Amino acid sequence: MMKLEQYIQTLFTPEDVEYQKINEGMTEIGMPTISVSPETGKLLSMLVTISGAKNILEVGALGGYSGICLLRGNPSAHLVSLELEESYANVAKKNVEEAGFKGQVTYKIGPALSSLENLSNEKEKYDFFFIDADKGNYINYLDCCIELANPGAIIAADNTLWNFEVLNENSTDESTISLRRYNEKVANHSKLESILLPIGDGLTLARVK
Ligand SMILES: C[S@@+](CC[C@H](N)C(=O)[O-])C[C@H]1O[C@@H](n2cnc3c(N)ncnc32)[C@H](O)[C@@H]1O
Repeated sequence: MMKLEQYIQTLFTPEDVEYQKINEGMTEIGMPTISVSPETGKLLSMLVTISGAKNILEVGALGGYSGICLLRGNPSAHLVSLELEESYANVAKKNVEEAGFKGQVTYKIGPALSSLENLSNEKEKYDFFFIDADKGNYINYLDCCIELANPGAIIAADNTLWNFEVLNENSTDESTISLRRYNEKVANHSKLESILLPIGDGLTLARVK
């Protein structure tokens, strides 16, 4: 019998040329191949389309695959992408341009928390957020995203099942504990309507009321 992931990928995301190209390119230069799964990417595209988001912010660019998926959802949207590593942001920029989205992404290099603080001081507002960076800061990123959100904005966070480790209440792994706290906070937040989808490595979705 097929695995669930394989079944979904075979039917709904049989061949994402960009995904393969980006992963091969990252492998060649020694970058980690930890982009979102193609099915999570497809869901991100659909969520952007459905929500009509025009101003998008992502935390964690890596090689640009999730950025491409977000922009596929609205090819005239603008994306602000926060990335710690300048060399990664350069790879992402090149891949995003080759995918046809030249000039549509602004990369902010450095710790995402500092970049988010700057955006807040500049009174920027966004319709869609994608959190996919250091797990220990997910809760801090959530607070910043809520502050930067337009009413009705969507906040999506990846890896929130963490290979199903979040189900293990006895886990002492720091990332697992942070992700469990993130899910609990989102689930109980008075300003959010939320759900966790078991797609890819888990995608927690929240809508800012
Ligand atoms: C899982 S990867 C992002 C994958 C990307 N979203 C995709 O699917 O194509 C996580 C990224 O977050 C970046 N990162 C880690 N800590 C960070 C921080 N404190 N601030 C900004 N970026 C950070 C890493 O350098 C890495 O590129």
